[in-house]
Amino acid sequence: MSELLITLHDKQFRPYLPAEHLYGALDALAQRLNADYADRRPLFVVVLTGAFMFAADLLKRVSIPCEIAFVRVASYEGTGSSGLVQEVLGLREDVAGRHLILVEDIVDTGTTLHYLLPRMRALGPASVEVATLFFKPASLRHDVALRYVGLEIPNDFVVGYGLDYDGLGRNLPDVYVAV
Ligand code: IMP
Repeated sequence: MSELLITLHDKQFRPYLPAEHLYGALDALAQRLNADYADRRPLFVVVLTGAFMFAADLLKRVSIPCEIAFVRVASYEGTGSSGLVQEVLGLREDVAGRHLILVEDIVDTGTTLHYLLPRMRALGPASVEVATLFFKPASLRHDVALRYVGLEIPNDFVVGYGLDYDGLGRNLPDVYVAV
């Protein structure tokens, strides 16, 4: 991983977590999911867009029978949470009676999950849990239960590995933090 600063729009970012560091967390999460959902054929509901890279790498490690679906929400403008969540793309699958695992890139204020979880529960699934790559405990403003957390990080703005700054940085294989 390069030690060079990168620039996205008007901001500079420094290397923070190399991809190899994330893979250990993914292995541990997948091991727990494989054990907890062994006979339940869970439906992983990936929250786009930021979770696409995490979901791909996590689900390659999940070896039990499972299905995958996508929802899309938007809650962010720049590096500050707007507090607004808008569902852009809904779930088409019939989730009644299913075991759902929402796959998130990062839980920051918890606003997105606070919006999404009741809507998922209203569809009558057998259970709903959350798997998130990153969690910023210091930012949390809502009471959301997070059963599967990859890494807890400080309240800094990070990009890469699916996470963006105003559209840029999602393709970076490693994680960078704003300087
Ligand atoms: P929350 O609704 O405040 O929990 O934020 C969740 C969403 O905000 C995530 O799915 C991300 O899209 C975005 N987000 C929060 N923190 C960051 C960050 O550090 N970098 C990039 N996006 C972030």
